[in-house]
Amino acid sequence: MKRSCLLSLSLIFTLLAGKAEHPQRFFDRKDLILSGTYYYPEQWPSDQWERDIKKIAALGFEFIHFGEFAWAFMEPREGMYDFVWLDEAIRLSQKYGLKIILCTPSAIPPVWLSEKHPDIMCVTDGGQSLQHGARQPASWASDTYRSYVEKIVAVLAKRYGNNPAVIGWQIDNEPSHYKYSYEYSENNRRKFIGWLRDKYGGIEVLNEAWGTAFWSETYGSFDQIVIPNPERLAGKANPHAMLDFKRYTADMAASFINFQADILRRHISEGQWITSNTMPAHAQVDPARMDHLDFPTYTRYLVHGLNIGHGGQGFRISKPEMIGWNNDLYRNFKGVTGVMEIQPGQVNWGVYNPQTYPGAVRLWYYHILAGGNKLVCHYRFRQPLKGSEQYHYGTMQTDGISVSRTGEEIVRFNRELSILRRNYNPEARMPPKLEKIRTAILVNPDNRWEMDFQPQTEQWNTVVHYDKYYNIVKSFAAPVDIIGENADFSKWPVLVVPAFQLLDKTLIDRWRKYVEEGGHLVLTCRTGQKNRNAHLWEAKLSEPIYKLIGARELFFDHLPPDIWASVKMDSDIFTWNNWADVLQPDRTSETWAVHNDQFYAGSAAVLHKKTGKGSVTYIGVDSDDSRLEKEVLRRIYKNRGEIYDLPEGIILEWRDGFWFGLNYTSEPYRFPIPANAQILIGIPETPAAGVIVWKESK
Ligand code: GAL
Repeated sequence: MKRSCLLSLSLIFTLLAGKAEHPQRFFDRKDLILSGTYYYPEQWPSDQWERDIKKIAALGFEFIHFGEFAWAFMEPREGMYDFVWLDEAIRLSQKYGLKIILCTPSAIPPVWLSEKHPDIMCVTDGGQSLQHGARQPASWASDTYRSYVEKIVAVLAKRYGNNPAVIGWQIDNEPSHYKYSYEYSENNRRKFIGWLRDKYGGIEVLNEAWGTAFWSETYGSFDQIVIPNPERLAGKANPHAMLDFKRYTADMAASFINFQADILRRHISEGQWITSNTMPAHAQVDPARMDHLDFPTYTRYLVHGLNIGHGGQGFRISKPEMIGWNNDLYRNFKGVTGVMEIQPGQVNWGVYNPQTYPGAVRLWYYHILAGGNKLVCHYRFRQPLKGSEQYHYGTMQTDGISVSRTGEEIVRFNRELSILRRNYNPEARMPPKLEKIRTAILVNPDNRWEMDFQPQTEQWNTVVHYDKYYNIVKSFAAPVDIIGENADFSKWPVLVVPAFQLLDKTLIDRWRKYVEEGGHLVLTCRTGQKNRNAHLWEAKLSEPIYKLIGARELFFDHLPPDIWASVKMDSDIFTWNNWADVLQPDRTSETWAVHNDQFYAGSAAVLHKKTGKGSVTYIGVDSDDSRLEKEVLRRIYKNRGEIYDLPEGIILEWRDGFWFGLNYTSEPYRFPIPANAQILIGIPETPAAGVIVWKESK
C-alpha cells in the first residue's frame, strides 16, 4: 500500500477514534432528551413489579433506573450473590420496551460488611464512628471498603455489561451528598498524609506553604499531621491546611468514583456509558476530577422551604438558576450531561415541604431540556409507604395505581416531547444575535473553598455572588457556559470571572491574550488577591492584576448589615453594604463608577480598560440588588448588538432550533415572540410556572 494511502487510513482511524470518544455517540440527537424514572423492585412485592413496569412504559417513560441502594439484596451474605430479582426486573423492563440504567450499590454497605469491618465507617468531627442504619456511612478512604466494592462492581459488570437493554451505569449515589464527606477516620488521615507527601515532598515545603511559623504550628514530620478539625481547635484553623483538606477530599471522592469506573470499563460493552450523579450545591466534590466517567450528571431538588423564587408563589416554583447554572456547568465537563434525579413534587425532608405550584415540575423539565441535557430521570416512580422517605412524592400516589398531581405533569411532558421530536431540524444553528453574546463564566472550586472558609464578612456568600452574575447575563438571554481553566477562552466573546481570588501569572497572561485578541473580560471584587497557595502576594493587595485592569492601588471595605453606602455611575446612584473594592485608576483605564461617600468618596468602584481588540472591566462592588452590576454589564453587551431585557424569573433559551420561554414568576408573562414564530407548545401569554416553545420558520 502506498504511504499516502496508509496516512489517510490512519487519519480516518484517528478521526473515528476521536469521534467515538465523544459521549454524544451514546445519544441520538433527534431524541433531544430521554425521559425515565427510578424504580426499586427490592422495596415492593414481586407480584406488583409487572403492573408497575408496564405502567412506567405506558406513561411514556423510556428508561428505568435500578439498584443504587440494593447491595443487601445483590449480596445478602458475603460472597453469596442473588440476582434473581434483578434479572426478573430487567426482563420485565425489556418486555415493555424500557431501556435500563444500572447502579453500583456502594452508597450503602450491607450490615454484614460493617459488622465484620467496623473500621470502614466514617468518623465525625466529634470523633464518633457512624453506625449502620442509613445510607452513606462508609469512608471513601478505606481500602477494606474498596476491596468489597471492587468485588460487587465486577460481579455486576460481568453480569449485565453486555445486556443490550442496559444503556448506562451510575456509580454510587450522589457522592456529594455524604453528610460526612469531611471525615476524620484514621483511614482518611493516613490517606491525607500520603496526599500531602505527594504534593509537597518534604515537610519543610509543607511548613512554608501552610505558613506554620504562625502560632508555632510547625511540623517535624508528616506523621504528626492530623486533619484540621475546626470542632477541636480553640482558634481559627490554618486556612492553608483547610484548603488542602478540601482539595484532598474532592480528589478522594473522585478517586472512589474513578476506581469504580475503571472496574466497569474492564467488563462492559462500548455502547454502555458510565456516569455518577453529584449535587452541585454541595461543594465537597468536584465533578471535573471524576474524569474516568463518560460524563457526570447532576441531581436537583428545588422546592423545600429554601430557594424562594419570584413573587408570592415563588416558594412553590423556586429560582431559574437552580437548574440553569447546573445545565450550563455540567454540559461543559464532557460535552454532554443529564439530570439523574429531579424532584417529583412535594418532598419530606425540607425546612417545610410545600406543594409545588401547578406546572412547576413540568417547567423544570422544559428547563432541563432547554439546557441541552440528554436524559432526565424522575425521582421516583412510587411514593414509599415505609422507610425514611415517607411523604416523598412519586409519579404515583400511595395506592401505587393512581398518577399523582405532579406525576401528571411529567406524563404531559413525555407526551409533548414527541411534538418537539417531530419538529427537530438537524440543520438548525444558533441565531447570530445569540452567538455574538455567548458568555463563559470561569470558576475554580479553590476559590469557593477558600472564600467560604474566610468570607471576611458574614454577608459574603460565594454562590450568591456567582448567581448574581449568572442571572444578569441570562436576563440578556445570552447563552452561558460555566467553564474551568482548561477551556479555550477564545470561544466566547464575553468572559465573566466572578471573585477569582486565587490565581497565578499564567492565568493573568491568558486573560491578557484573550482580551488582546478581542475578548471582553469582566472581573469582579476579590479577584487576584492571593496566589494558588492562598498566600497574599508580597506586593500591594491584588497588585498582579493592576496592569490588566488599569489600577495602581486597591483596598476593600465592608459595612454593617444595616448601613448602606453608595456608588455613582453617570447620574445614577447605586447602594451597597456587603463588599466594595476601592480603586485608584492608572492612566490607561476609564472610571465608569465612583464611590459616592465614605472617606474614599471619588475613588473608583468600576474600571474599564480597552486593550488590543477587546476590553477588561473590573467591578469592585458587590451590591444587594445587582443594579450596578447589571448596568455595567449592559454597557458591555450593548456594544455587541441587540440584547433582551428579561425581568427576573423569566428565561429564554435556545436549543436545537427551538426557543424556550420559561416563566418562573408568580404572574403571567407575555414572551416576545417574533412574527415568523411557529408556536409548538403553550401560548404567548404564559401563566405562572408556564412554558412556551416555538421555532422560527424561514
Ligand atoms: C436525593 C437522593 C435520593 C433521594 C432523594 C429524596 O438527594 O439521591 O436517593 O433520597 O434525594 O429527595
